[in-house]
Amino acid sequence: MGGFDFNRYWKERRELVNRGLDKFLPADSPGPQILTEAMRYTLFAGGKRLRPLLAIIGYELSGGNDLENELLPVACGIEMIHTFSLIHDDLPAMDNDDFRRGKPTNHKVFGEAIAILAGDALFGHAFYVMVRSTAPSERVIETIREITDAIGLDGMLGGQVADVTGEKKPPSKELVQYIHSRKTGKFIRASLKVGGIIAGADTGTIKVFHEVGEKIGLTFQIVDDILDEIGEKDKLGKSVGKDRESGKQTYVRIYGLEEAKHRAKELAESAIEQINSHFGVEKGLPLISLTKFIVERNF
Ligand code: IPE
Ligand code: IPE
Ligand code: MG
Ligand code: MG
Ligand code: MG
Repeated sequence: MGGFDFNRYWKERRELVNRGLDKFLPADSPGPQILTEAMRYTLFAGGKRLRPLLAIIGYELSGGNDLENELLPVACGIEMIHTFSLIHDDLPAMDNDDFRRGKPTNHKVFGEAIAILAGDALFGHAFYVMVRSTAPSERVIETIREITDAIGLDGMLGGQVADVTGEKKPPSKELVQYIHSRKTGKFIRASLKVGGIIAGADTGTIKVFHEVGEKIGLTFQIVDDILDEIGEKDKLGKSVGKDRESGKQTYVRIYGLEEAKHRAKELAESAIEQINSHFGVEKGLPLISLTKFIVERNF
């Protein structure tokens, strides 16, 4: 147990994902050069690659043994969808942000029209890439069902609608719960689950991923809210203080900073306990370490 080096584990998998992204969306892709350039600009601007990492951990915990061919296309598709959501989230009509992943936002560099189209193209291209998984086709279909549900009407996009229409409304616990579970939580949960689905995990393990993924997803967004309040722009690579300025429904606004921190910590502890009891401390270490990072992070 003492020998596990999470930073190294993460770095190796981050590099694998970066290589995959470069392979699945090369600079000389067909179509207008400017489109590929805009897609790759935000895709390779940095990024923690947490969702692909969750998929990889889910796969490895479920005994998957062909990461490169079975899982990598899915992990890269997930990162493309996430990057699409960031480009659109930053648009003037949405959060109107100037910095992302330590660089000027996509629309600041390429203009709004190309930024919108680059987001759309990443969204579509993700599925073109994901179906290249060599896993049995019923598992790939189940993966796409899980992901489309997580990002769809009652998922990320529904959550984003509730987020933008909830601005400047009176703070509401029910509303923030809906926003956080949908705009961020469900896709994070799905990322972990599809790792298990692609590896052919048993239903008990998928159920654990579902429950643990939900806790990790909510923890992640609570910490995102906290960092918007007390984080550092240089470390985060994005502007801070915007949620308060826009009157967003956040955990910090509704519960206060200390209570928000407390809730994130409790959720993470509960996730870790569940990982321990299902997988054991040693096998569960990568997921436990990632959960700890998510709650303790400053970027
Ligand atoms: C930021 O996600 C957007 C939210 C869903 C809150 P990340 O913090 O995972 O962003 P990157 O991928 O590391 O840039
Ligand atoms: C973004 O939430 C969620 C999605 C991109 C789907 P935020 O608006 O809080 O994310 P940041 O803080 O801009 O990264
Ligand atoms: Mg937003
Ligand atoms: Mg935003
Ligand atoms: Mg935020």
